[in-house]
Amino acid sequence: MMSDPDPMRLKCELDRMRAVRHTGRVSGVTGGVIRIDGLAQRARIGDHLTLRRNSGPDLQGEVLHVDADQIHMLPGAAPDGVSLGDPVSLDQLPAFAPGMHWLGRVIDPFGAPLDGKPLLPGTQECDLMQTPPAAVSRKPLGARMETGLAILNTMLPIVQGQRIGLFAGSGVGKSTLLATLARTMQADAVVVALVGERGREVNEFVETALGADGMRRSVVVAATSDQSALARRRCAWSAMSVAEYLRDQGLNVLFLADSVTRFAEAHREIAVATGESASLRGFPPSVTPLIANLCERAGPGTAQQGDITAVFSVLVAGSDMDEPIADILRGVLDGHIVLSRDIAERGRYPAIDLSKSVSRSLPGAATEDENQVITDARKLVGSYEQSEVMIKAGLYAEGADPLLDRAVRVHDELDAFFGKADAEGIKNSFNRLSLILRRAGSNPVQETQNSRQF
Ligand SMILES: Nc1ncnc2c1ncn2[C@@H]1O[C@H](COP(=O)(O)OP(=O)(O)O)[C@@H](O)[C@H]1O
Ligand SMILES: [Mg+2]
Repeated sequence: MMSDPDPMRLKCELDRMRAVRHTGRVSGVTGGVIRIDGLAQRARIGDHLTLRRNSGPDLQGEVLHVDADQIHMLPGAAPDGVSLGDPVSLDQLPAFAPGMHWLGRVIDPFGAPLDGKPLLPGTQECDLMQTPPAAVSRKPLGARMETGLAILNTMLPIVQGQRIGLFAGSGVGKSTLLATLARTMQADAVVVALVGERGREVNEFVETALGADGMRRSVVVAATSDQSALARRRCAWSAMSVAEYLRDQGLNVLFLADSVTRFAEAHREIAVATGESASLRGFPPSVTPLIANLCERAGPGTAQQGDITAVFSVLVAGSDMDEPIADILRGVLDGHIVLSRDIAERGRYPAIDLSKSVSRSLPGAATEDENQVITDARKLVGSYEQSEVMIKAGLYAEGADPLLDRAVRVHDELDAFFGKADAEGIKNSFNRLSLILRRAGSNPVQETQNSRQF
């Protein structure tokens, strides 16, 4: 800090300093919540607290509830050993102030570095709960983005400012796909929120999946599964604040959240401690606006800003797309990508289940000819899937259904194309796809369109 040449940073820190430290006393503990006297006139919801136990380390926590004469604290760990009268101080957290120099770094939800190197805050403190830009002031969805994957370049385009959900069971390839996008997708900067992963998974994500190339243009914000629910929930907000900061500098940001399910679970722990009941199929009702608000903060910026294009991963047990978090997300997003365990098990990655996946940027994001190709490919995939059991049982006979005949002829090649990492760009991906479709034989309605080059 002493060698920091930027006086603005020092001024920012000084402006935030409080001359007096306010202290209260524990007046009761019920369940996981600690009641405190003496801070009610000072504390605000969400403020940080430190409780000094008679024995054992200090207990950190947050203000959960404020009364006329009392506040409630949710501690970050079990309140073992807390006794009446223990002193609790109202802390001032260091400002959460991202800067361009955060690119390439791994941080915790409070802005502290996790990669073993010192990290200075930026000059501008961010509100973790910023309201999204007003809908009327936002740009419309932007241009189609190069994703680096043939299947997304063609069948499921992502446009600038689009918000997509990535749904799958565990171990089907969500994190790997997000890391691939962080490396290969067109963007000025990438912000990754890793919420509730195990520590080992965070290291793997940063060092192996993202690698030095992906890391160079990324900020990773991580809260591991052993951290408190407060830290895990904050992680998504902090990461979104970093993305907003970068967007405000005019950058087109890719925001990747892994996973919204863990974020919602962290919120559930906190909400249940405040007395809210988990009545929405196992989640508190407040989880709906919480998720909607996080998603709404991503999206297109105003005319002076860049955009935040976002992919939110969701863990769906047994591919149950109706489970509450998946259900809430589908309603607020502009598309969803569903990964299938069956496809992953036969080794095709990304294991995207096309029939269940939708990009709402279509048909606007593609030309008329491209839309024809997409529709044709979708029909062929659908037709093959419908008859897959029959084909595998050897009951398929050529000649009965021209569409199915084409679908069978094209299946292997199409499947290989969908698993292709494509460094050749959107145009070439489409050329390749239309060539595959033509080789499968003509589709009378679309023959004229498909034979054109893009
Ligand atoms: N693109 C890929 N190529 C090869 N293997 C993959 C790919 N994506 C996922 N896998 C395999 O699936 C496993 C689980 O992937 P992961 O991304 O961690 O799943 P999730 O995040 O959905 O739990 C990986 O360890 C790897 O073996
Ligand atoms: Mg994962």
